[in-house]
Amino acid sequence: MRRNGPLSGEVTVPGAKNSVLKLMATSLMTDGVTTLTNVPDIADVAIMGDLLAAIGVTWSWHPTEERVLLLTNHGNITPVAPYELVERIRASINVLGPLLTRCGTVKLSMPGGDDFGSRPIDMHQMGLEAMGATFELRHGYVEAHADRLHGANVTFDFPSVGATENILTAAVFAKGTTVIDNAAREPEIGDLAIFLNEMGADIEGVGSSTLVVHGVERGSLRPVVHEVVPDRIQAATYVAAAAITGGEITLRNARPEQMEMLLRRFADMGLSIVPQTDGMAVFAPERMRAIDVATLPYPGIATDYKPLIVTLLSVSDGVGIVTENLYPGRFRYVEELQRLGANISTDGHHAVVRGVRRLSGAPVKAPDIRAGAALVVAGLAADGETTITGVHHIDRGYDDLVGRLHRLGADIERR
Ligand code: EPU
Repeated sequence: MRRNGPLSGEVTVPGAKNSVLKLMATSLMTDGVTTLTNVPDIADVAIMGDLLAAIGVTWSWHPTEERVLLLTNHGNITPVAPYELVERIRASINVLGPLLTRCGTVKLSMPGGDDFGSRPIDMHQMGLEAMGATFELRHGYVEAHADRLHGANVTFDFPSVGATENILTAAVFAKGTTVIDNAAREPEIGDLAIFLNEMGADIEGVGSSTLVVHGVERGSLRPVVHEVVPDRIQAATYVAAAAITGGEITLRNARPEQMEMLLRRFADMGLSIVPQTDGMAVFAPERMRAIDVATLPYPGIATDYKPLIVTLLSVSDGVGIVTENLYPGRFRYVEELQRLGANISTDGHHAVVRGVRRLSGAPVKAPDIRAGAALVVAGLAADGETTITGVHHIDRGYDDLVGRLHRLGADIERR
């Protein structure tokens, strides 16, 4: 990758990883064929598919239609999620709610951490216990039981994405009404709730921080055809790629209203973003201005955007302070950006980014999905060649990042 001129043209944003994986897990709750459209072609979909296959739901791509995934549930479910599959993907925790509520029992390998820190499941457990489940940890497995869950009032200390999703799915077959307060409000959770309602669940408050779930009978859900919500993090990646090259691009299949806070801050940096019927147009200035940013649960600035923001700040005019409020350890990629000539210092959960005029190409390594994509964006602005290894991380969440950037005019290839 040599230093790139302004990107231009149109890019279509794929479906969201952090929605499709949860929708796939939720197909455990109904027999028959669930059809998901706008599915991103990413490694994590296959990994989740393999996990579901071990439990009893088979998956395949539609034979003729692109990006359409078929999940077939024959009703023969073994509620055990084995270690070899669970440890490959954090979203495997999302089988907990569906299996417990459908089968009354589940045995799930204790999910591990990520490169950016440990990721406990105490809030998932607290919510399910309030609904009558009992938990035991044995030989690295979490075993949960409840012949039939009952409705409860569950209030989270913190709006955890995964815990909200597990309590939401579990509540669908619980006896009575469950109220989830301080629920996470990410658009992918809205997508899950809409999907469940389409299947026959009774969920109110979709998109708000109070979800009210009236339990329905086990066996009463039906399989549906559902379109996965567009991926706001992939969308932000293309905005960042346009921004760092001073380009002008149009994003199709993007939902600017689901990225409002981020787009407002991008505007503060000097980008002009014009919403369109099916997406948005992005016009970047010659050089961006530095801003301060703190990550927060939705509708705040997502932690998953942060590596992109730090990358943009690294070549902006001025000094920006970035504060991470979700994963204290999530600054590992900073060393890689420094290898490209970025001037960044970190202290606890803050990073101080002093903009430089130019980055310079170097070999770097992707430590995780989001940081990997940010290094690609950084490479677009670096003089000379940047080679990025560890791209299997990027493949977990990005559908043809290289091809999409190439079609926008980036000098990028995959070897
Ligand atoms: N937490 C707890 N206890 C819990 C649950 C969470 O302490 O029971 C803590 C976590 O350790 C973390 C914070 O709460 O510090 C946020 O965790 P949350 O449960 O909200 O996140 P998650 O469901 O594990 C999802 C996304 C992440 C994204 C976060 C935050 C998926 C599969 N993962 O994780 O996405 O960063 O929400 O928005 O949906 C990614 O896609 O690369 C990714 C890491």
